Amino acid sequence: MEFNIKSGHPEKQRTACVVVGIYEPRRLSEVARQIDDVSNGYLSSILRRGDLEGKIGQTLLLHNVPGTLADRVLLVGCGRERELGDMQYRKIITEAIRTLHETGSMETVCYLTELNVRGRDTAWRVRQAIEAAHAALYNFDLLKSKKNIARRPLRKIVFSIASRRELAIAEQASREAQAVAAGVSLAKDLGNLPSNVCTPSYLAERAKALCGLHDKMTCKVLTETQLEKQGMFSMLAVAKGSEQPPRLIVLEYKGAKKEMDPIVLVGKGVTFDTGGISLKPAEALDEMKFDMCGAAGVLGTMSAVAELQLPLNVVAIVPAVENMPSGKATKPGDIVTTLSGQTVEILNTDAEGRLILCDAMTYAERYKPEVVIDVATLTGAVIVALGRYAHGLMSNHNPLTNDLLNAGRASCDRAWELPLWDDYQEHLESPFADIANISNIGREAGSILAACFLARFAKKYRWAHLDVAGTAFIGKGKTKGATGRPVPLLTQYLINRSQEDSEIAREPFIAVDDDIRDEDIREEEVHPQAERDDEEN
Ligand code: BES
Ligand code: MN
Ligand code: ZN
Repeated sequence: MEFNIKSGHPEKQRTACVVVGIYEPRRLSEVARQIDDVSNGYLSSILRRGDLEGKIGQTLLLHNVPGTLADRVLLVGCGRERELGDMQYRKIITEAIRTLHETGSMETVCYLTELNVRGRDTAWRVRQAIEAAHAALYNFDLLKSKKNIARRPLRKIVFSIASRRELAIAEQASREAQAVAAGVSLAKDLGNLPSNVCTPSYLAERAKALCGLHDKMTCKVLTETQLEKQGMFSMLAVAKGSEQPPRLIVLEYKGAKKEMDPIVLVGKGVTFDTGGISLKPAEALDEMKFDMCGAAGVLGTMSAVAELQLPLNVVAIVPAVENMPSGKATKPGDIVTTLSGQTVEILNTDAEGRLILCDAMTYAERYKPEVVIDVATLTGAVIVALGRYAHGLMSNHNPLTNDLLNAGRASCDRAWELPLWDDYQEHLESPFADIANISNIGREAGSILAACFLARFAKKYRWAHLDVAGTAFIGKGKTKGATGRPVPLLTQYLINRSQEDSEIAREPFIAVDDDIRDEDIREEEVHPQAERDDEEN
């Protein structure tokens, strides 16, 4: 899809279709008024006859409107003017684009970007319009033998802005939005692929292919033997039951001078989560192919970062495994040593996300990260807590929390904070190991306790955790599929960081040290075999 920005009178556009808004009840928007004026009240006469009330998402396609140069004018209901907020705006754009795609206009000049959205400026309206338009046209038909191809598909969308003075700002917004949209599409595609296609090795191949597109990005993939050499036995414990070998995928994007500490993104890549020996029930089990959506979101974000050539260093670490029961699988009660040296009693093999993330998070330490953000479909409990609207956000650093909350609000990809108090930690005690992988208080505070587990591996850096189990995919209905979230939030965060527009405190992070994390214990006593130098693939 080609997107453009322009400023000009609606009646002078030589295009297949001009799109303008109508408010409820039957009220012309400013641009609709201009067309009404040149057409001797053609639009208002139609509204008087009652053909369009102006409710959100209603559409009416008109041909040969007097006084205009366009083939068609599409009227789009915008609801009550005073009530026009973020979600209403996205809905309006979505309906407009769908209608255009289905009714033969191959190009359009869309004036909906000139609507007044509460508290939002031109750049935001352009960004969201492009992202919503892209999403409206997304369709995953890779594995269908009959593709649903529009006879006259929409190919080019020009969004209009009211003033030429904002052209540069709007064009920058357009570049950002297109990079986000491409990242979202990548994340959706990877998420939607079934687990017999999207295996850990497949994810690694796709990551390498992504690197091939950008010269500032390199890719390294660790195989099972390399993971053993490293000492990532927690991650390996999850992979043990599967015929699919695990992979640790590491992408490095270098957009800034090498002295600049990187931002590290960690994405949960469980390509299928049966629960392992703690087997899940059959209902909706197919949804567990989406258990790699954290990985997909991180890869989508890397694509956007590279596309925008952001002046940052960003590293993505994706532990990719399949969680299966078998004769070789890890059993409840088994104890493993993590890369950090801490031992874990695996009481439930279905709490596998934290087991692969903890090793990936320790692996992240070698990058001396400025911050680490992990993204994971980690707990069903976060859906109970927040539903499908907000990611669960937990962090050990308040300024980072605020940066992420702000990025979420700006990008319409919101997160909501849950507490990560030390009070909860006692529920992860194990009689036999340093820590248990599930809590001893059942279902209470499930998302927080999962994050508390991860917090024990994040003591050396500023860290935030996004639980995207409720937001990264939609499980049922005709919109079933991956959402591409949190690519918009993460990309917005990184754009803000590249403009130093952040609350991050600049002073060095004070690591919380306790005995167990002592370097000596870690390298000599627990993992005499652990090797720190990794090999390039
Ligand atoms: N992948 C699941 C979490 C999940 C559930 C994601 C529903 C998306 C939709 C995770 O690995 C899991 O099984 N979590 C368990 C944790 C429990 C065993 C402590 C859960 O949420 O029930
Ligand atoms: Mn699980
Ligand atoms: Zn899982």
